[in-house]
Amino acid sequence: MHYGGDYNPEQWDESVWPEDMRRMREAGVTRVRVGVFAWARIQPEEGVFDWAWLDRVLDLLHENGIQASLATATATPPPWATTNYPEMLPQDDLGSTLWHGSRQAYAPSSPVYRRLASELVTALVERYAQHPAVGMWVANNEYGCHLNYDYSDNAAVAFREWLKKKYGTLDALNEAWGTMFWSQRYTSFDQIVPMRRAPYSLNPGGLLDFKRFTSDTLLELFVMERDIIKSAGASQPVTTNFMGFFPPADYWKWAPELDVICDDNYADPNDPESFRGAAFTRDLMRSLKKDVPWVLLEQAPNDVNWRPTNAPKAPGQMAALSMQAVARGADEINFFQWRQSRRGSERFHSGMLPHAGTNTRTWREITALGETLKNLPGLGTSASGARIAIAFDWEARWALDAPDHPGEIDYGVLIPRWHAALHRQQLLVDLVHPAEDLSDYDLVIAPHLYLLSDESAENLSGFVRAGGNLLVAAFSDVVDDTDSFREGGFQVALRDVLGVAVEEFGALVPPEAAIGGTSAGDTTGSASASRGPGEAHADVDGPFGAARGEFFAERLQVLDPSVEILGRFSSGRLAGEPALTANRAGEGRAWYLATIPDDDGMRRVTGWAAAEAGIAPVLEVPNDMVEVSCRGDVLTIINYGSEPARFAVTGTEVSSGERVSSVDLDQYDWIMLDQAR
Ligand code: GAL
Repeated sequence: MHYGGDYNPEQWDESVWPEDMRRMREAGVTRVRVGVFAWARIQPEEGVFDWAWLDRVLDLLHENGIQASLATATATPPPWATTNYPEMLPQDDLGSTLWHGSRQAYAPSSPVYRRLASELVTALVERYAQHPAVGMWVANNEYGCHLNYDYSDNAAVAFREWLKKKYGTLDALNEAWGTMFWSQRYTSFDQIVPMRRAPYSLNPGGLLDFKRFTSDTLLELFVMERDIIKSAGASQPVTTNFMGFFPPADYWKWAPELDVICDDNYADPNDPESFRGAAFTRDLMRSLKKDVPWVLLEQAPNDVNWRPTNAPKAPGQMAALSMQAVARGADEINFFQWRQSRRGSERFHSGMLPHAGTNTRTWREITALGETLKNLPGLGTSASGARIAIAFDWEARWALDAPDHPGEIDYGVLIPRWHAALHRQQLLVDLVHPAEDLSDYDLVIAPHLYLLSDESAENLSGFVRAGGNLLVAAFSDVVDDTDSFREGGFQVALRDVLGVAVEEFGALVPPEAAIGGTSAGDTTGSASASRGPGEAHADVDGPFGAARGEFFAERLQVLDPSVEILGRFSSGRLAGEPALTANRAGEGRAWYLATIPDDDGMRRVTGWAAAEAGIAPVLEVPNDMVEVSCRGDVLTIINYGSEPARFAVTGTEVSSGERVSSVDLDQYDWIMLDQAR
């Protein structure tokens, strides 16, 4: 179990470094990331490298028994680079240049940027591949973070090449994008621009490909650096830091290229529910590389500086969130950054060693956590033992995020909400790509899988036929992977297993708008008020009781008399129509829910489906602010709520070896119990 943070010693006079080492040892630090923003310090001008300081830093770390995760520093080209080569600067969607003076000022497709970055990485790895302090390589930093999309001329050239490779011919591209409509037909690849802002909606197929291209381009940068590092003979793992359910990068596609998954997570201390979102991203990180423990590369020791209100973490909150990561598969806990900056943009961001010194709550909590992690036995596997999986696809998110649908739904919010529904019930869950092997699971939930490739549809159907339980929820299987309807209406690819098809989507006014009173026909706020067009929700009566449906109330066509109607809409324009259907296909069952439930509805629906699939909560706990996770045989229980939680549970406390038959947890208290000992 490693413990540490970003060490940026170039900000400080060298006389401070020995104190850094002493304090790091005191805090139990075992590994730090070095050099993440140090390009300008390492290479003061083109062709000139200054290694002496970095040699001393790495030697010092080694002498103190601390490893370095050596960063490649390529996320921050220095001003000399962008001044000498302004063509490497990125552009926004109106073609305006984004200048240097902050960080990440480069166009990912720029050949000049790639050359300069390669030269830097080559020089770094030649110098340090064999350095005994180096335990890991971290390429760049949070690829795509500030610059989600680049629309520069470099992007235009690269996008055209990407499209040529994908489609071969312009005819194929024109067909896939449906460019005969609105006179968008291209007669040369050179006419294609990287989806810059236009007077009105951009072509959906083009937008989707531009997002694929962007994710692939960023991944190409990682692979470029990784290959340089590996081919120089470095034997350490090579990685980069992810950002949870980050929209622009399809981490399903990225994960196999990394030796180990790293994530950055900044749960909002002001939000009492932010631990739930953190649980989602931690489950995602574990799921991206199952059975390989992952690394929490960044979190805040206390407050951040970039929200409108930057509340400090409550006492114990930092440790609770750190242990949540360990419980969900992490073997390394780090922070941004070691010593709080005195100058620059992040001077108000907390550090492990605060500006106010060591007589501080932050320092005491940092050293206490170091001690805790040091005393933790190896946990081995990261496997959760989950029998439930939520299937989601970044491509579905990209397609849904484009305009011009019957209603606006935010997949980036809804997928974590489905996860939260299970999390509230202590039902363990993994995340999966819909085309991956599902044989470990008894229940797969596929919510709002709007874009569904043939491969994913076959995989999900195969899962059902082989005996699995599949729950598909509204606005799924709507389009193919070009964002076009399949022939034969809506919802074609899963039709055989679901036994139903959608006739109309029946958009409902989104809940936020309805709360604001803009929902036509509903000024009463009453669920049962009769509504005309513009209604806000459609209640459902089902085996899970009553649930409120939002966003869509789809009119279904039941295609086979053997399809069971388990639930019906009980209000709204579809009152009496099927809302939840069940079909048997092969050895398994497929349910279709024709709306998107609210939070309580999601909890009921998922709880019911789990019970149907024979899956029980991992532990009965007093309330849903108490979280339980499994890592192999180790159960971690954390109480995030203000109510103390006292209840019976047996196991052996992992650090002390004491047998336990009940727990008594105040807010942010946690306990790890080995259930096999
Ligand atoms: C991350 C970034 C770090 C630091 C941190 C602040 O996105 O990688 O360098 O800026 O945010 O919370």
